[in-house]
Amino acid sequence: MNLFEHLGGQMAELRKAGTFKEELVLQSAQGPRVRVGGREVVMLTSNNYLGFANHPRIREAQKKAVDRWGAGLGSVRFICGTQELHKELEAEIASFFAADDAILYMTCWAANEGLFAAVLDEPDGLYSDELNHASIIDGVRLSKAKRFRAPHGDLPALEKMLADDRTSRYKLYITDGVFSMEGEEANLRECLRICETQGAVLAVDDSHATGILGKTGRGTAEEQGIHGRVPVTTGTLGKAMGSAAGGFITGPKALVETLRQRSRTYLFSNSLPPAVAAGALESFRLLKEDPAPVAKLRHNAAYYRKALTDAGFTIPKGTHPIVPVIVGDTAKALAMGKALFEEGVYVSGFGFPVVPQGHARLRCQVSAAHERADLDRAVDAFRKVGKKFSVI
Ligand SMILES: Cc1ncc(COP(=O)(O)O)c(C=O)c1O
Repeated sequence: MNLFEHLGGQMAELRKAGTFKEELVLQSAQGPRVRVGGREVVMLTSNNYLGFANHPRIREAQKKAVDRWGAGLGSVRFICGTQELHKELEAEIASFFAADDAILYMTCWAANEGLFAAVLDEPDGLYSDELNHASIIDGVRLSKAKRFRAPHGDLPALEKMLADDRTSRYKLYITDGVFSMEGEEANLRECLRICETQGAVLAVDDSHATGILGKTGRGTAEEQGIHGRVPVTTGTLGKAMGSAAGGFITGPKALVETLRQRSRTYLFSNSLPPAVAAGALESFRLLKEDPAPVAKLRHNAAYYRKALTDAGFTIPKGTHPIVPVIVGDTAKALAMGKALFEEGVYVSGFGFPVVPQGHARLRCQVSAAHERADLDRAVDAFRKVGKKFSVI
């Protein structure tokens, strides 16, 4: 058997188990409702939290950027790929997080992959929550620092691990601000206290909180009353903030300067296309002018969570617009996703190994662009499909 026959066999196994992920092809722009297979369905599985993915002002900013700055740079930042636009966006992001400076990457994946190896070395200790995003896990693997897996959400254990570590020169603890499979917030306030008392640097990936949590969308730190106090934040521009692409790291000047000199995913990868940078910049400006979409998103999330809970579904406690509906079995979650699609609702099922065995789910993501009628239509569909699959 050659390699490709071997891989084909593995894919056939996934199909047989009902866990092969089919990609549905959109025939429209991203939005609260999309066209797929000639039908309009409610989109409930996008990171388009603020409805900026197809916002007229963001589209206009992107078009103007192409006219003013061209389609692309054909270069990495340090050779000839930095435009005033990139500097403006970095300044905007730094100011949004009340940080000294910010550095752009093509994605948050690249930001997380390029961070740790650039700043920590063999004598250092790198602590990471065990449920952190895959990009953090890969980034941690690339660092030469000693690696410590922190049990998820067990902050006394983290504190003890840090206290017991008397040999590391510098210590850094990284956590997701919001864990994307659960919509669960890290207790950042407590993480900060622990890191400060144990002499560790706190770094937070706020991809699912930037533009989402806090009164003005400044993220998990704002939500928990510690805005401006988290030393290092990584995040994406591909979710709430423009929904196109791009990632960033904010922090002290020395950190950002070091990343510009040493971070491999920054140094050896093309700079962000002007249209993408301009769209993201416009999204920060929109939010600064009027944080109303953040309030609407929160309101929609509360409404949807309550409606599904009242219908009898099991939803982990929380307030985040990620609303996971737990159904248990992976094949069941995927089959329910298909049935919901037939009922006009587009939502993804997630199962093992992305979530623990027996905790498969349909992960709904509410947007500020949803209207009450969209959410009601989704709840009706969930009720019908939930009964059919004996989940309620
Ligand atoms: C917590 C977290 N970090 C990083 C990423 C990667 O972001 P990007 O799409 O910008 O690479 C994601 C995307 O799913 C995420 O959820």
